Amino acid sequence: MDPDEFRRYGHLFVDWVADYLEGMERYPVCSPVKPGDVRGGLSLEMPEKGDAMETIFRDFQDTIIPGITHWQHPSWFAYFPANNSPPSILAELLTAGLGAQCMVWKTSPAAAELEELVLEWLRDMLGLPVGMSGVIQDTASTATLVALLTARERATAYESNKRGIKIPLLVYTSEEAHSSVEKGVKIAGYGKDNIRYIPTDKDYAMIPSELERAIIKDKEQGSCPACVVATVGTTSSLAMDPLVGIGKICKEHGVWLHVDAAFAGTAAILPEKKWILDGVEYVDSFVFNPHKWMLTNFDCSAYFVSDPASLIRTFEIHPEYLRTGQDAVVKNFRDWGIQLGRRFRALKLWFVLRSYGLEGLQTMVREHIRLAQYFKERVDEHELFELMAPVELSLVCFRLNNGGNESDLNLINEEFLARINQSGKVFLTHTTLKGKYVLRMAIGSRTTGQKQVREAWELIVTAAKEWSGTDYSFP
Ligand SMILES: Cc1ncc(COP(=O)(O)O)c(C=O)c1O
Repeated sequence: MDPDEFRRYGHLFVDWVADYLEGMERYPVCSPVKPGDVRGGLSLEMPEKGDAMETIFRDFQDTIIPGITHWQHPSWFAYFPANNSPPSILAELLTAGLGAQCMVWKTSPAAAELEELVLEWLRDMLGLPVGMSGVIQDTASTATLVALLTARERATAYESNKRGIKIPLLVYTSEEAHSSVEKGVKIAGYGKDNIRYIPTDKDYAMIPSELERAIIKDKEQGSCPACVVATVGTTSSLAMDPLVGIGKICKEHGVWLHVDAAFAGTAAILPEKKWILDGVEYVDSFVFNPHKWMLTNFDCSAYFVSDPASLIRTFEIHPEYLRTGQDAVVKNFRDWGIQLGRRFRALKLWFVLRSYGLEGLQTMVREHIRLAQYFKERVDEHELFELMAPVELSLVCFRLNNGGNESDLNLINEEFLARINQSGKVFLTHTTLKGKYVLRMAIGSRTTGQKQVREAWELIVTAAKEWSGTDYSFP
């Protein structure tokens, strides 16, 4: 591609993206294609000679786009959001253009220094302790793995990196923790059987007294409690593990405390929601995802530690070919995580934080919380529906309830969800809470407003009425 063609297609693609973002509602939220449809529509032969950009772009529009699920759709209510925003997209374009690989300070000083700065901004916005230092990881899963590895090293006086794990090390998390904890435990060599799942209370939050009981019992049996992973905003229901109680126990027993606040962490930028991080002074490590609720393109996870020295001691490696003259005076982020090569992720975050400012982000988060309250009230007052968890932030867990037995209700709600999503007008996903099948209305897309939430509610009620008129009778 020559420079003129690059410029021409560059303009065309930016126009295409602008139209896409503006006209998103013409697409079904969740891709309706069946397995194999996309592959079946593509030429399977690797081209011997390069194709013209025009042909590639036509295939993108005709075959790739129908197989895309539109995460930026204003009626996106599935999982949690993975927001982007115009400033973030433009920064990603610049990042791709620069093509910098930012493994150490010298390989792009601006990337290292900007990363340090934007993470200080995030730390202060959330109200994390000023002593905490941050680094960008790709995802919360990786950040949790990094925390588990660091906790493992600290628990073994930094011997397990050298000699492997010699004694059973234990990890504690709630039965509502994200699956990335189990994955991290397996990868970090603790062994899946060495996770203790701590019971939760009626609001699905970890019960600190149960945690303490488990730690004491394990110590009495000669095992070594190494790490507690608490969740601020569980995936299923946004339950908040109580950090003050958990933190005191960790401190008393010398156990590493990692906090997974992947989605909910962003809410701490609101003065009225700061309470979600009460007890954060006890924390050894903390992660939240600007790529979820802070308008920054996937992937971008902000990971903070109280003691960078233990993180670096776990991950540092100094082959001759990576040595630079500045190593003693700069941050080389390759030693703050798993990978060597690093993308310039700080740029998109910087663009977002500068473009929206704290107030712009607070306005968006507040509006999503308000919309969730609006939806919650509709659920609460409607005879066909039941609210299934407290609504503190922007997730509403609910289900149809016709008074049937629990296994019938699970089935009804599973089929009901499929029916709602078949419309293509909204996309919601589900979970189970204490064995009950629950629909999740996760509000957090940048463009979601009152209109989309009201329409979603109307669609849900209409579907419920149709449903109640068929096989199942509702009060
Ligand atoms: C509480 C929690 N932790 C971790 C994750 C995993 O996030 P990531 O995709 O960044 O690894 C999620 C995903 O939704 C989550 O809700």
